[in-house]
Amino acid sequence: MVLHASDPAAIEQAVQRLAVGSLVGMPTETVYGLAADADNASAVQRIFEAKGRPSDHPLIVHLAPGDGAHGWRAGVDHYAREVPAFALALMHAFWPGPLTLILPRRAGVAAVAAGGQDSVGLRCPSHPLAQALLTAARAHGVHGVAAPSANRFGRVSPTTAAHVAEEFAQLPDAALLILDGGACPVGIESTIVDGTRGYPVLLRPGMVTQAQLEAACGQPLRERDGAAPRASGTLESHYAPNAKVRLMAAPALQAALDLLGADARHIAVYARAALKAAPGVAVRRMPDNAAQAAQALFATLRELDTAGVKLIWVETPPASPEWDGVRDRLQRAAA
Ligand code: TXA
Ligand code: MG
Repeated sequence: MVLHASDPAAIEQAVQRLAVGSLVGMPTETVYGLAADADNASAVQRIFEAKGRPSDHPLIVHLAPGDGAHGWRAGVDHYAREVPAFALALMHAFWPGPLTLILPRRAGVAAVAAGGQDSVGLRCPSHPLAQALLTAARAHGVHGVAAPSANRFGRVSPTTAAHVAEEFAQLPDAALLILDGGACPVGIESTIVDGTRGYPVLLRPGMVTQAQLEAACGQPLRERDGAAPRASGTLESHYAPNAKVRLMAAPALQAALDLLGADARHIAVYARAALKAAPGVAVRRMPDNAAQAAQALFATLRELDTAGVKLIWVETPPASPEWDGVRDRLQRAAA
């Protein structure tokens, strides 16, 4: 069942669902999440089942913005045993917003959501509907809402309510209420920083860039290594549409299109460059601006899947830092 943001009963109904341990499709500024009360073990278990996600892949816990400038702090202290100064600086700089921090977990909270790790991923989203839901849930005693992206395991994250409905068409209405908050403005998942090791480690690039993070916490960010905690978003192959994805520079892409000639059914091109392609090729223009490209990325991949495309040739995004998140998602889609 989908309820639109304009429906005055939407938030109250969604909170009722969370309170009885049922699932809610929650819009956030990044992508839609599949939400449940983070401290309700059987509700969280239902998230793993619905997604087909291994139960040792931890979920992000979303916190209400609270009152005042840093009103999320009570939520942080409920879940985190310890908050290093650099992590707090990052929260102050980017919350509410598309940044997740992994912190040492307080024993006994959100254990199932954390997938058995002794850490917990926390994020305070900026989307007004997510904030309204989290705030109303908080008033019902829900400290945080566990929500992975609302897609089946390994698939492209949803950026509209219709995408979520498509992913979980097999679930009965009683099992999932989707809040329709429109298209997600950021479009790719949050940047993730590991704060459990005494220094910040970048686990997943996103639209908050490494340079912005370093400026805000006054420290260099280290790269993840083999000891990094498990994060399904960091698996090499992830975020994949059904079609095969290949990344190429514009000249190689044009050469391939020329070779192909007219036999181009089931092929799509997603490029910033203006390329010449045979009439059968589905050509989509990638925006020149990284933020706009991120916003449109997953919806474009889904649209091409729906159109029955089997192969998507994508122009490699620029090497500059503001493209790190988009480049990362495309590399994983192509892996
Ligand atoms: O933007 C986002 O982050 C979206 C929205 C809904 O908030 N959520 C999202 O969740 O992308 P998900 O589950 O698809 O990706 C979260 C990533 C996963 O790779 C997960 O393994 C990692 O965060 N993660 C969560 N908690 C963790 C922990 N305690 N330790 C290590 N990685 C963790
Ligand atoms: Mg995901």
